[in-house]
Amino acid sequence: MNEVSKSRREVLKVIAVGSAGVAFGGQLSTFAQTAEIKPVSIGKLEKLAKDWDVVAFDFQGAASQLARVPMPKDEKLLKAGRVLEVTVDKTKIYLTAYSLSCTHQGCKIGAQDKEHVMTCGCHGSAFSVADGSATHGPAKKSLSGIKLEVKDGEVMAVGMLA
Ligand code: FES
Repeated sequence: MNEVSKSRREVLKVIAVGSAGVAFGGQLSTFAQTAEIKPVSIGKLEKLAKDWDVVAFDFQGAASQLARVPMPKDEKLLKAGRVLEVTVDKTKIYLTAYSLSCTHQGCKIGAQDKEHVMTCGCHGSAFSVADGSATHGPAKKSLSGIKLEVKDGEVMAVGMLA
């Protein structure tokens, strides 16, 4: 065997191994994106007797909050799952949940004030209890939203919103 054909075989071997690695890596990445999140029970709906009542819970390793809020003015919040409409005894109520990790640098944000705003003690960002949106910087992004489901009067956290 001459040197040219030997080195050509080596190159083909490297390409084959590299392609397998890319294919395997692709599968891993797909698996990571679709890995199931174990639903977490937050509690019974009765814990949220009126608008602005909140329940703290842990989800995906982060302190999080469920809130009962007034009907959102922006329908997009309902369509995106940011706010969930639930009918209880023929009355519509609205729920939202999000991580309490500040989207600026990750500090845990504080409890709501009388204006239903939560402030981060680290650099002063503020977020709306109604939907987790940032209302004052330096944070610009909304709090990470949590997908909710209600089954037999029990509120479940079932995933993170995009
Ligand atoms: S970490 Fe919250 S404002 Fe900076």
